[in-house]
Amino acid sequence: MAKWWVTGASRGLGAELVCQLAAAGHEVLALARDRVGLSAVQQRGGDGVRVDLLDLAAGDALAARIHSLVAAHGLPDGIVHNAGIGWYRPIVEHDEATLRAIIQVNLTAVIQITHALLPAMIERGSGYVVAIGSDLGRRPLANMAAYVASKHGLNGFMHSLLREVKHAGLRVSLIQPGMIDTGFGGHETGRHARGTVLRPDALAKLIVQVVEQPDDLLVDELTVHPPGQGEF
Ligand SMILES: NC(=O)c1ccc[n+]([C@@H]2O[C@H](COP(=O)([O-])OP(=O)(O)OC[C@H]3O[C@@H](n4cnc5c(N)ncnc54)[C@H](OP(=O)(O)O)[C@@H]3O)[C@@H](O)[C@H]2O)c1
Repeated sequence: MAKWWVTGASRGLGAELVCQLAAAGHEVLALARDRVGLSAVQQRGGDGVRVDLLDLAAGDALAARIHSLVAAHGLPDGIVHNAGIGWYRPIVEHDEATLRAIIQVNLTAVIQITHALLPAMIERGSGYVVAIGSDLGRRPLANMAAYVASKHGLNGFMHSLLREVKHAGLRVSLIQPGMIDTGFGGHETGRHARGTVLRPDALAKLIVQVVEQPDDLLVDELTVHPPGQGEF
C-alpha cells in the first residue's frame, strides 16, 4: 500500500486510475479542477480516495499550491502526472492562449510539480514519478503540433529525470499510450470499434501493475496500443 497523487483525476484515464489504485489497496489523492467529477470519483473509489483541487494552469502559483497540498495531505509516495489537453486542429486555427495552455498543462506543470516535490523525496530516499505521455511523444502528427511538442518534451524530461534521480532511490516511469476511449479533445466515448482504442479501465489496470513492480524491476517506458489503431 502506498500514497499516490493522480492529476487529471476528474474523468477519463485519471478517474479510472484512481479507482484501480484504490481497489488495489493504495491511498489516493485525486486532483483536478472539476469538483463534481472529483466527488463522483471519490464515491466510486471508496474509502481510500481523497480529493482536492489543482489547476495546472496556475503558473507561478503552482509550486505554492503543491506545498500546501503536501501540508494538508502529506508527502506522497508517488505521483501520476496524468492530466493532459489537446485538440485535433490545424495550428493556425488555435489561438495563442490555447497553444500556451497545451504546453503549460502537459509539460510545464509536470516539471513544476516534480521540482516542488523532489527535494523532500530525495531527502526521504524514495519516491515514484509517473507520467502519462502519448505515442505522439515518439512520432509526428499533423494538426496536433503543440500537443506533439508537449509530449516529445515530456519524453525528454522523464528519461532525463530518471537518469538524474535513480541513484537517490527514486523511480520514474513513462507510459506512452495510443488512442484511449475517453472524452479527450472533445471526442465522444464508446463509439469506437473494439480493438481500435484502448479501454481506460484496462490501461489503468496495467499502470497499477507497472507501479507495483518490485524494487529491482523498473518499467522506465511502456508503449501501449490498441492493435486496430490506424497509425503508430
Ligand atoms: N485519450 C487519448 O486518446 C489519449 C491518447 C494518448 C495519451 N493520452 C493522455 O492521457 C492522459 C489522460 O487523458 P484523458 O484521455 O483521460 O483526457 P480527459 O478525459 O480529457 O481528462 C483530462 C483530465 O485533465 C484534467 N485537466 C485538464 N486541464 C487541467 C488543468 N488546467 N488543471 C488541472 N487538471 C486539468 C481534467 O480535469 P479538470 O477539467 O477537472 O481540471 C481531466 O481530469 C493525458 O495526458 C493525455 O494526453 C490520451
